[in-house]
Amino acid sequence: MNILVLGSGGREHTFAYKIAASERCSQLFVAPGNAGTASIATNLPLSVTDFDAIKKAVLEHAIEMVVIGPEDPLVQGVYDFFKEDADLKQVKVVGPSKRGALLEGSKERAKEFMSQHNIPTAAYESFTSKSLEAGKQFLETLKPPYVLKADGLAAGKGVLILNNLDEAKQELENMLAHSKFGEASSKVVIEEFLDGIELSVFVLTDGKDYKILPTAKDYKRIGEGDQGLNTGGMGAISPVPFANREFMQKIEERIVKPTVNGLMEENIDYKGFVFIGLIKVDDNPYVIEYNVRMGDPETEVVLPRIQTDLVSLLEATATQNLSKISLEIDERAATTVMVVSGGYPEAYEKGKEISGIEKVEDSIVFHAGTTLKEEKVVTNGGRVIAVTSLDKDFRKALKKSYQEIEKLSFDKMYYRTDIGFDL
Ligand code: AMP
Ligand code: GLY
Repeated sequence: MNILVLGSGGREHTFAYKIAASERCSQLFVAPGNAGTASIATNLPLSVTDFDAIKKAVLEHAIEMVVIGPEDPLVQGVYDFFKEDADLKQVKVVGPSKRGALLEGSKERAKEFMSQHNIPTAAYESFTSKSLEAGKQFLETLKPPYVLKADGLAAGKGVLILNNLDEAKQELENMLAHSKFGEASSKVVIEEFLDGIELSVFVLTDGKDYKILPTAKDYKRIGEGDQGLNTGGMGAISPVPFANREFMQKIEERIVKPTVNGLMEENIDYKGFVFIGLIKVDDNPYVIEYNVRMGDPETEVVLPRIQTDLVSLLEATATQNLSKISLEIDERAATTVMVVSGGYPEAYEKGKEISGIEKVEDSIVFHAGTTLKEEKVVTNGGRVIAVTSLDKDFRKALKKSYQEIEKLSFDKMYYRTDIGFDL
């Protein structure tokens, strides 16, 4: 079948890589894609939120299945757009409906969903500009650190963790009264701080059944030792060594089942990925957040470990046949290290020529922010390339990623040398 992947990052190159390798894929399109996807698929120069342009492309190229990478089109209702359109409703869409996507689109909605379905998470209250004073009073009842979350999508920047009460009150005011994160912070969730180690669990659901995909841990800060500014993610490891069988059972019983059942009880049309951000406190899992898509760079370590044909798995998701398919996982560990533009996550330059990609032999190069300029691969974003390796354990895999990365170069290239340091 002809397939379209929406998005342009390392996540989407990884999806394209696995889909292109499937015998079930005839023609593969990626919109808008990057230099990596251009080498294995046809890139279409479309914005992921321009639904009319997507419709035109789907009809023109006889696309039968669409896989949505990022959250924006999902939160804006791309699934519903397909299902409500007479010409598009037969197309298989992997991604939740707009109501489902609210689990990521609104932190308050996610918290309400968790409390309704008894899913363990941090205690919270939410506030608007009208209840700013009540919010400040609520902060006084908490112990530091204080966790403030903009309700809406804020490109991963909407969560503030502050040690000082006065600072927390000031930031609450900045968010609610001075639109620190624009419309996204017109509502703010204040929550209890949970002290523990984080991991992510990925679930694929067709709205009736589910498969738990490999776990992963990402490294969000720009600097070594997980210091400095937050980024989209500087590297990832799968599986997470401390997520043993017993802990995974707790996650499945207390979190995955109530999540999938909760979606069903609320009649939410959800055929796609649920990315559950968790924190382990003592020996118990708590949900920090839901995302309604795969993570990036987590995808770069999760998908390479899936041995089941990905097109069949995605089709079974979209057609509610997941129970009929078995999930085979590669026992090896996977690691990815993200190579970024100097300056990221603040200002950085684009258009730097990247050399050495063709010399990488023992790892897989997934392109993120790259593009083609006069047939040369050049940088086109903050996160540029993810170098993924598989081996018996994560230390061996990491060693490979780091050896192969040395073959790459571009002006002001940077990467963290300590991925996995805390494990
Ligand atoms: P989120 O965007 O909700 O994933 O939050 C971003 C980051 O803030 C998470 O990855 C955690 O490191 C941290 N965080 C969020 N909520 C809490 C919490 N309740 N307790 C401790 N850390 C948190
Ligand atoms: N790596 C975190 C995310 O994709 O949200």
